[in-house]
Amino acid sequence: MAKIAITGGQRLVGSVNISGSKNAALPILAACLLVPGENVVCNLPKLLDVKTMLEVLKCLGARIKAEKGCAWIDASDISHFDAPYKLVRQMRASVLVMGPLLARFGKAIVPLPGGCAIGLRPIDIHLKALEQLGAKIIMHDGCVEATCSKLKGQKLYFDFPSVGATENIMMAASLAEGQTIIHDAAMEPEIVDLANFLNKAGASISGAGTNRIEINGVERLNPVVDYHVIPDRVEAGTYMVAAAITKGNVLLKDCILSHLDAVIAKLREAGVTVTEESEGVRVEMSGEISPLSIKTMPYPGFPTDMQAQFMTMMTTVPGISIIVESVFENRFMHVSELCRMGADIKVDGHTSLIRGVPFLSGAPIVATDLRASVALILAGLIAKGKTKVMEIHYLDRGYEYIEDKLSALGAIIKRVE
Ligand code: EPZ
Repeated sequence: MAKIAITGGQRLVGSVNISGSKNAALPILAACLLVPGENVVCNLPKLLDVKTMLEVLKCLGARIKAEKGCAWIDASDISHFDAPYKLVRQMRASVLVMGPLLARFGKAIVPLPGGCAIGLRPIDIHLKALEQLGAKIIMHDGCVEATCSKLKGQKLYFDFPSVGATENIMMAASLAEGQTIIHDAAMEPEIVDLANFLNKAGASISGAGTNRIEINGVERLNPVVDYHVIPDRVEAGTYMVAAAITKGNVLLKDCILSHLDAVIAKLREAGVTVTEESEGVRVEMSGEISPLSIKTMPYPGFPTDMQAQFMTMMTTVPGISIIVESVFENRFMHVSELCRMGADIKVDGHTSLIRGVPFLSGAPIVATDLRASVALILAGLIAKGKTKVMEIHYLDRGYEYIEDKLSALGAIIKRVE
C-alpha cells in the first residue's frame, strides 16, 4: 500500500502551477451526455475521480479518448442509462449523470451513492427537484430509477444550496420544455463554469453564480470543441496554507484570486501576506500566525473543503482557535490523527476548539477522506521529524502530483510503495 513520507521543517519557496478544478471538471464531463457529437474538454487534472467519471461515461456508451489533460467525449450513441454501482460507490459525483440522462433519453438508473466519511450525503434535494420537473422516481435494488418522456420547466426552491443538486438540475433543465428557475441555488465558481460550458453548447442559462438561476430549455445542444475548466480553488487554497505554515514565500500561478476571497480574508486576518502579481498570487509569511475563528458556509462563505487545512494551520498557533463545520455533519475525522502528532483539539458536535501547541511531532498517520489527507500532509511539513501518511488513495482523488509540486518548493516528501 503506497504511503507518503515527509520530513518536516522545510520552508516552501518558489512557484507552483495550479491544476484544473476537479469539482468543475466532473459536472462538465457529465454534461457531455447531453450532447450528440464530440466535446473536447481540457485543463483536466490527472486525478482518480476524473478517470472514474470518464469510465462511467464509457460504461454508458460514450466514445472516450483522453490524453495530455484533454478528453474527447462523444455521446452520440449512448446505449445504456444505468451508471455502474462499482464506479458510483468509488465516486459519489457519478450521481451527476442522472440529470443529463433523464433530460436527453428520458431514463436514468443510478445506484444510491451512499454515505462517505464526512457524512450521509443524501440526494433528496436532487430527487425532489427532478420530480418537480416531471420525473417519475422509484427506488429498487439500492438504485434510483428516474423516467420522464419530457421534463417540464418549474420554479424550484432548494432547502439547502446544494452544489450537486444545482448542477444536476441545471443540466436536466437545459433540455426541458419551458423555463426553470432555481431559487436558493449554490453559487460556487464550479456552478458558473458548468453554466458557461452549457451555454457554449447552446443552452440558455442566466444567473449562475447567484442564488437565482434561470434556465430556458432548448431543443438540442451542440458539441463544444475547446473548453478549458477553471483552476482548482481548493488546491490553490491548500498551497496557500502550505506556504503560510512553513513561513515560506510561494507564487501560485494559474489561480483565480476572486474564487478565494473568503480564504484569503482569513489568511490575511491570521497575518499572512497575500498579494496579486502579474504572474499569479504570492503568499508569504514571516512572523507569528494569529489564532482564528472560522465557520464553514456555502459559497461565497468560507469553504468546507478548506476546513481541515486551516485546522492544521491552527494547531501550532499560540492561543485558542475555533472552527465550526456547518456544511457536513462529520468532517472532523482529521482531528484524531492531528492529536496523535501532539495537537490539542477538542471536538463538540460541529465545533472544534484548537489550543496552539509549540510544535507537532512526526508520526505514522492515516487519512480518512480527501481534504483530511491533505491536512495531514500539511501537518507533516511542519512536524518535527518524520511523518508517514497512509491510505493516500484519498489524496490521489483530488491533488495532482502533490509530492512533485511540494518537492519542487523545497519540501522533503516522497511516495513510498
Ligand atoms: C460538492 O459536493 C463538492 N463535490 C464537495 O467537495 C464540497 O465539499 C461540497 O460540494 C460543498 O461545497 C463536488 O463538487 C464533486 P452539497 P456535494 O450537495 O454536491 C446536504 C471535495 O472534497 N445535501 O452542496 O455533494 C449534504 O448532506 C468534495 O472535493 C442534502 O441534504 O455537496 C451536505 O451536508 C467533498 N441533500 C450539504 O447538503 C441533497 O440532496 C452540502 O452538500 C444534497 C446535499
